[in-house]
Amino acid sequence: MESQHDSAKLLQAQSHIWNHIFSFINSMSLKCAVDLGIPDIIHNYGKPMPLSKLIASLLIHPSKTCFIYRLMRILIHSGFFSEQNVTEQNELEAEYVLTDASILLLKENPFSMTPFLHAMLDPILTKPWYHLSVWLKNDDPTPFEKTHGMTFWDYAGHDPNLNHFFNDAMASDARLVSRVLIEKYKEAFQGFESLVDVGGGTGTVTKAIASSFPKMECVVFDLPHVVTGLQGSDNLKYVGGNMFEAIPPTDAILLKWILHDWNDEECVNILKKCKEAITSKGKNEGKVIIIDMVISENEKRGGESIETQLFFDMLMMVLSSGKERNEKEWTKLILSAGFSHYTITPILGLRSIIEIYP
Ligand SMILES: C[S@@+](CC[C@H](N)C(=O)[O-])C[C@H]1O[C@@H](n2cnc3c(N)ncnc32)[C@H](O)[C@@H]1O
Repeated sequence: MESQHDSAKLLQAQSHIWNHIFSFINSMSLKCAVDLGIPDIIHNYGKPMPLSKLIASLLIHPSKTCFIYRLMRILIHSGFFSEQNVTEQNELEAEYVLTDASILLLKENPFSMTPFLHAMLDPILTKPWYHLSVWLKNDDPTPFEKTHGMTFWDYAGHDPNLNHFFNDAMASDARLVSRVLIEKYKEAFQGFESLVDVGGGTGTVTKAIASSFPKMECVVFDLPHVVTGLQGSDNLKYVGGNMFEAIPPTDAILLKWILHDWNDEECVNILKKCKEAITSKGKNEGKVIIIDMVISENEKRGGESIETQLFFDMLMMVLSSGKERNEKEWTKLILSAGFSHYTITPILGLRSIIEIYP
């Protein structure tokens, strides 16, 4: 009895280890389907798509048609497609439909996450994972630098390809976030005459804010290689610079997905520069609006949401000197930089809006 129990535990442990060894197969299968355009092909078909029609629409070698069923099967399991069975010429043929997750990967979806998928699974970003344990044993600042010999931001400054696909990935996320921000929490920006989006990338969020608040002077502030050549509009301009040196004076500052890229000391320096830049010219007192994760401590550890937050935390460890923070860690940063109080509004899924006041 005892040994039977031991064998059951052994096999359970083996299965758990296999599952984790092969977790990358989820992302690689998804990438393959997106590379082949499967979500768009099923969408354009306009109704549940039989396997045979899907195969006929794919640009694949005739000798490979038998593999598509297996690719689709794992993606059904991971929630990217669902399947209906219909009888066709007395045989059951699978018919595929999209799920909410694959709809968000369609090229024509304005909130498409495809650029984010391509960027995060590019070998420039995945290679450093092979150096994680070696990095822990030496004094290289990040696994990314151990692998590529320079910081992520320097690499993006040297390699137009990385600069381009990374900015596209950020812009795709920013489109979704802007929509939620304007729909659910426009009041966060009310009453200010000016706003600087520090590390604002190519300006997707700022464009949405600038058109919702035509009287507000908006600035997208980012490294020169990101903003050079970008055209502003009446109330939006692009300014190149380094946030560790000086941030243009303003009433309000937006820091979306910035602080998680940096360690505590660097964050305090950025926040101090933000505080200097806030001039309180508007009707309200100035503030900094941070969009980042607040790691949940209370949620059950096994949930997908907390796992995804922990994935992001590890990603920050590998690519940059940053981390995802819990509320206690955020409070420490905010107070260390000389801000007096804050509010947290958790309306962005796994991320929150943290507003901090001088
Ligand atoms: C994770 S991205 C976020 C982009 C944008 N805020 C968004 O969420 O879509 C971080 C941004 O910080 C910018 N950045 C990095 N170092 C910077 C610096 N020293 N000064 C200004 N911007 C910087 C990067 O170029 C990049 O656009």
